[in-house]
Amino acid sequence: MSFELNKKSVFDCTVFELPKISNRAGNITAINNTSELPFNVERVYYLYDVPSGVNRGGHAHHALYQYLIAASGSFDIILDDGINKKIVSLNRPNYGLLITPGIWREIINFSSGSICLVLASEQYNEDDYIRTYDCFKKMKS
Ligand code: TYD
Repeated sequence: MSFELNKKSVFDCTVFELPKISNRAGNITAINNTSELPFNVERVYYLYDVPSGVNRGGHAHHALYQYLIAASGSFDIILDDGINKKIVSLNRPNYGLLITPGIWREIINFSSGSICLVLASEQYNEDDYIRTYDCFKKMKS
């Protein structure tokens, strides 16, 4: 495990605003590699039809950076670096949360019909996941 990954804290995970192009017909938000995001986007996926009361996440990543957007509706993200925790609420499509590697996350309180859009820095790789909290705590110690 790298020293850098070990160091990652919830304070590295920030919400930032995206540009919004508005007119009477509605809004557009565009995301360009490296200008709006601090990583190259290799994969886009989205969570939808999440049943009421169900939580997602429950893992950390070795290398993956992600940027989460509430493209519709709202949800909360619990971030945990092994020492500090913080909760972030997303509910506007022109704001997103950057999650660095080395952060345990749970996504909770999905509103009905919500869509969690995820921009990711790597292709899907199960080996990049840290799936148990025990392994996560060992990695961070
Ligand atoms: P997971 O990342 O654990 O979901 P979440 O964090 O949203 O709860 O992924 C759930 C399942 O979907 C798991 O079996 C892996 C699979 N999956 C893919 O095959 N490709 C992907 O790009 C993602 C994100 C998940």
